[in-house]
Amino acid sequence: MFKIGMFDSGIGGLNTLEVVKKYLPNEDIIYYQDTAHNPYGEKTDEELEKITTNIVNFLINNGVKEIIIACNTATTRCIKKLREKYKDIIFIGTEPAIKLAIDKGYKNILILATPATTKSTRLQELIDKYQTDQKIYKVAAPGLADAIETNNQNEINELLNKYLNEYKDKNIDAVVLGCTHYSYVEKEILSILNKATLLDGNDGVARQAKKMLEDNNLLEEKNKEGKIKIIETKK
Ligand code: DGL
Repeated sequence: MFKIGMFDSGIGGLNTLEVVKKYLPNEDIIYYQDTAHNPYGEKTDEELEKITTNIVNFLINNGVKEIIIACNTATTRCIKKLREKYKDIIFIGTEPAIKLAIDKGYKNILILATPATTKSTRLQELIDKYQTDQKIYKVAAPGLADAIETNNQNEINELLNKYLNEYKDKNIDAVVLGCTHYSYVEKEILSILNKATLLDGNDGVARQAKKMLEDNNLLEEKNKEGKIKIIETKK
């Protein structure tokens, strides 16, 4: 049995898992690496709902009390419905770190995300909530998560040039990584937008995951080392 369940469409959420482990070293965590359904970012809401419901059921059967959605796409498109459907489960979502970028004082912010996330009403809600005088650009990157998943370096470079070259003269000072896969291509992003700071939401997710366990009296004893299990679905 595991206390925490995590999932993503593949390797992206492993970045989140690393940070979560640092904050919660004593917890047993099961990570569902759903390679079979990558990319989530190019699926409909109906498809995503079916996929995420199956995963949540699987995680609940493994005893989890808290589920970390280590994926911006599944969070922006599905978390509301999942919270309604599974009232006893604590859901922690991953959302583009717009607030962080604005709090840190960046003025020309580019949000790089999957098509499903860039089109989501949730992303626009976040922008409307926090934006004051900043310029914010939403950039969809179809194919990028897939190229990262399959480690296709030529494709990665080609796609990033295609999506980011036109922002070279926009003084971009922060790039919000709106997809957990994109942490693997930070170097490539910086070679195009070289004045930018890259921001992801992993730290905030891990802190919130810990706080919710504390608030619900679910935190593990300190003298036990947490075990990690990774389940991968294949195409
Ligand atoms: N890693 C996911 C995200 O954060 C989704 C990537 C994909 O499968 O399209 O959005």
